[in-house]
Amino acid sequence: MKKDFISIADSTPEALQSILDLAVELKKERREKGENKPILKGKVLGMIFQKPSLRTRVSFDMAMRHLGGDALYLSPNEIGLGQRESVADVARVLAGYVDIIMARVFAHQHVLDLAKWADIPVINGLSDYDHPCQGMADALTIFEKFNRIKGLNVSYIGDGNNVAVSLLHFCSKLGANFTIASPEGYDLSEKALNEGKTFAAKSGVSIRMMRDPHEAVKGADVIYTDTWTSMGQEEETEKRKKVFPPYQVNAKLVAEASPNVIVMHCLPAHRGQEITDEVADGPHSVLFPQAHNRMHAQKAILVSLFR
Ligand code: CP
Ligand code: NVA
Repeated sequence: MKKDFISIADSTPEALQSILDLAVELKKERREKGENKPILKGKVLGMIFQKPSLRTRVSFDMAMRHLGGDALYLSPNEIGLGQRESVADVARVLAGYVDIIMARVFAHQHVLDLAKWADIPVINGLSDYDHPCQGMADALTIFEKFNRIKGLNVSYIGDGNNVAVSLLHFCSKLGANFTIASPEGYDLSEKALNEGKTFAAKSGVSIRMMRDPHEAVKGADVIYTDTWTSMGQEEETEKRKKVFPPYQVNAKLVAEASPNVIVMHCLPAHRGQEITDEVADGPHSVLFPQAHNRMHAQKAILVSLFR
């Protein structure tokens, strides 16, 4: 049966760990030998984008090239997913041309429908619900910095958005305590919280939701933040700019966490809003290794879909 990578919630902790192990291996292979073995030789990834991207587009493209395959960029204008043509038809047509589909969509249902109708693997490259490829790159980054994930305290400050959901998913699956501080009205969804609690019941971690960012970062090994306004919410930008300033990750907040804390952000960053320049470019920041790990983690995700 074909495999998909739609949400971290769908994978077992063992499967997630093996993706991370493979990512470490492929990253090391390329660093030491200057290249990867062409494991995906002849395979083509079709990349559907309904929203802009730097990291997802380039890191998937380069991941495929490094593994001997190729990638095809399909812009919002070309496909018109669900508008020019139904998602089910796009899925069945594309599946006859390419070997894998990666899609960045607005509605999460669209990526689920692509997976349902395409008889080839489908990867979620960000939806309005979650951002699992980002989550795997984040897990890899944390693992590299601390040599473990289990037992760490991860604190997310800001909007309970798609990036927060994938962070919650991997923390609760792989054994890190998860805390989120967000303003009223911007909490994690019930669905995400219930998923996190279900996984936490197995892994034994704690999941905390609170309003106070200062309380949230006490004892944190990882502070994570993301934009206050996600793609598709642009009309709320001004309203959100009034609500979120107490949730800015700045030097004062970082100083309240554990001394070896790392600061993460999926990027793009809105410097001076959710994160200051001082923190983004400071000694605790892992923003750029984190961005680079998108490519390494996604190589492992791509390969895992054919195993
Ligand atoms: N973090 C991330 O997904 O970046 P892009 O939107 O540039 O792909
Ligand atoms: N939460 C952000 C992440 C961007 C990579 C968004 O959805 O726009």
